[in-house]
Amino acid sequence: MALVDVELKIKRYNPEQDTKPHWETYEVRLEDTDRVVDVLHEVKWHHDGTLSFRRSCVHGALLVKDVGTKITVEPIRGLPVIKDLVVDMEPFFDQYKSVLPYLINSTDPGYEERRQSPEDRERFDDTTKCILCAACTTSCPIYWGNESYVGPAAIVNAHRFIFDSRDEAAADRLDILNQRSGVWRCRTAFSCTEACPRDIKITQAIQEVKRAILYNRI
Ligand code: SF4
Ligand code: F3S
Repeated sequence: MALVDVELKIKRYNPEQDTKPHWETYEVRLEDTDRVVDVLHEVKWHHDGTLSFRRSCVHGALLVKDVGTKITVEPIRGLPVIKDLVVDMEPFFDQYKSVLPYLINSTDPGYEERRQSPEDRERFDDTTKCILCAACTTSCPIYWGNESYVGPAAIVNAHRFIFDSRDEAAADRLDILNQRSGVWRCRTAFSCTEACPRDIKITQAIQEVKRAILYNRI
């Protein structure tokens, strides 16, 4: 553990006083085992309390020692900026909700569990890992240019139920994703897969959904 001086550049925007975003730079001293979010905390708590950003569980957070001592932070792309690093997540969650991201089954399981073989569970294991961080959708160049595209995060969460043997609404989800805003917008750019902090094979999941639509096979 060693102390390091970090130069942090942040894209700032306050709609009450700025006409457009601008960059500000801060010099911060921390331990190299600290997380990048700790650098933001240091700025907010000791340099400028007006800095706005969101953080929650900090799952998969980057460490300062992994990114170096010159760090640039800007809001995730493709969503409207509200203030500084805070964006409006409503469009993202509307797209997520549009793919019916929950188990649909009209039969009554009674007092039993809905059973599933390990092989059937394995079919969608990877896409259960999503934490809805939005890193994939907001790194997709197609999404930046076309906000009607449902985006990779929504497809990942559709995949999680389409390939679940206990679910009965795969055909409905495939119909939704076969529309103009659905999977065919994806041009296999792979940025989503590279951005995912949970290492979900997103592009592969999208390809599996495309094949399920094309060949009517789950
Ligand atoms: Fe989910 Fe990964 Fe996309 Fe985050 S980047 S929303 S964890 S699929
Ligand atoms: Fe976009 Fe990922 Fe497809 S980055 S184009 S959704 S492979």
